[in-house]
Amino acid sequence: MNFGDLLKGVEAEGKEKHVPQIEVGKGRGREGVEVVRVVVGKEVPHPNTAEHHIAWVELFGVKKEVEEQVVSLGRAVFGAGYTNPNARFQVPVAEFKAFCALAYCNVHGLWENCVELE
Ligand SMILES: [Fe+2]
Repeated sequence: MNFGDLLKGVEAEGKEKHVPQIEVGKGRGREGVEVVRVVVGKEVPHPNTAEHHIAWVELFGVKKEVEEQVVSLGRAVFGAGYTNPNARFQVPVAEFKAFCALAYCNVHGLWENCVELE
């Protein structure tokens, strides 16, 4: 087994939505920095109870200049039953050619998504 075998994507989605959506450049940060938002359940909210919730999301960037160099950009941990899985990271977007995110549901496991920039 490889770690990648544990990651689920859009093809595994059922009624509940787990794939982390990545929105680049929605809202400005400080100069040279843009906001990258990672949200789970934008259209169909995921349950948010102590028994079943999105515990965290992580954002990674793939650098433009260095072939396939992956940079860990941040993690947001959510309070079960209270905090919606919706995080904003301020990132120098121009340095990256892609962003990838992970989301962890305590019942349904690890979910992934990537967006490539032009
Ligand atoms: Fe779930």
